[in-house]
Amino acid sequence: MGRVTINDLLTMKSEGKKITMLTAYDYPFAKIVDEAGVEAILVGDSLAMVVQGLENTLPVTMDEMVYHTRMVSRATERAMVIGDMPFMSYQVSVEEAVRNAGRFIKEGGAQAIKIEGGSEVAEKVYAMVRSDIPVLAHIGLTPQSIHRMGGYKVQGRTEEAKRQLIEDARTLQEAGAFGLVLEAIPMDLAKEITGTLTIPTIGIGAGPYCDGQILVLHDVIGLFERFVPKFIKRYANLREEALKAIGEYIKEVREGDFPGEEQSFK
Ligand code: KIV
Repeated sequence: MGRVTINDLLTMKSEGKKITMLTAYDYPFAKIVDEAGVEAILVGDSLAMVVQGLENTLPVTMDEMVYHTRMVSRATERAMVIGDMPFMSYQVSVEEAVRNAGRFIKEGGAQAIKIEGGSEVAEKVYAMVRSDIPVLAHIGLTPQSIHRMGGYKVQGRTEEAKRQLIEDARTLQEAGAFGLVLEAIPMDLAKEITGTLTIPTIGIGAGPYCDGQILVLHDVIGLFERFVPKFIKRYANLREEALKAIGEYIKEVREGDFPGEEQSFK
């Protein structure tokens, strides 16, 4: 089976099949996520928080994003790999945006990039697509706008905000985006946007009516505890499992039970 393409995702929308996406940031986890069968892996700038231990996503650099994307690309055979444009890698100019997007493809081995923002980034989306770089757009709660938004808050609650998000969605589709992440918006608004577009919507905190869903892997498997948003569902607690395993190792070394004859050479 070949790698998932943007055409496959468009077909899934038209056939009413749900699209699954998760983040991953390194070789071992990307290998597991790929083998599990998601359609796409996002190397999200959320790695700043869940891997680098930073307060928010703003400090992560292009070089760091490309480094992680390379590891994920190396590990995957089927899932589409999407590199996430970090803060200030696309805001300054169209030229800089296209050049940085190109690094994800050329150096990171990704098949597409993701960019946060509404109509204000449409010109950049258009230029990237014209340069043969497939773009997943991202509206609603855009974590890189944390200082403007005043925190991680549900978006699109007022009539004006709803109208703006619907207009942003249409503009980004027209600019050539192959899909649209909808983050932390009311589910009825996500349903309306999903019904309006021909490209798939991928929800995170946007309810069940999107064409697909994405979550941060470390939330799903219980490796990030600093805060747990309402829209997260934890399917495993690997932190607990790891603590148990490491605790046993420490105990066995201290008590002289490890290594035993089995792990020793004659
Ligand atoms: O950075 C990220 O992981 C994201 C997803 C949560 C959509 O943007």
